[in-house]
Amino acid sequence: MNDDIETKIQAAVHDPQNVGEMSGADAIGTVGSENCGDMLRMWVKFKEEDGRKVIDKATFQAFGCQTAIAVASVATELIRGKTPAEALAMSGEELASPLGKLPPMKIHCAQLVEGALRDALGGEEAVAPASAP
Ligand code: FES
Repeated sequence: MNDDIETKIQAAVHDPQNVGEMSGADAIGTVGSENCGDMLRMWVKFKEEDGRKVIDKATFQAFGCQTAIAVASVATELIRGKTPAEALAMSGEELASPLGKLPPMKIHCAQLVEGALRDALGGEEAVAPASAP
């Protein structure tokens, strides 16, 4: 892994943004990786802005590797203010883009974040806590 991205990952892991369960979330998504067994859960809250429904805040809990934590940290910042459709259109690599280009072996870590987001936004009506894996 190149040093720059490693430094950014370490910085994000050291001071992750938006960590923890969100009470009153509008949507919850959980996904587990088949590659490594890691798991990530994401909570999303919406708000109305200029007549559009946008993401007000997103939080996460990761039971996984440092890269997944770092990507979730930057991704939860990145999707703020986006509509659900705009957020759903983002790939794992786009969600990880503030960190730089991930090496191929780490792409699935970003896809874990993408999967949890998709699960949350796709299952928006289901506000009940996601069932444990
Ligand atoms: Fe499992 Fe990164 S190694 S998500």
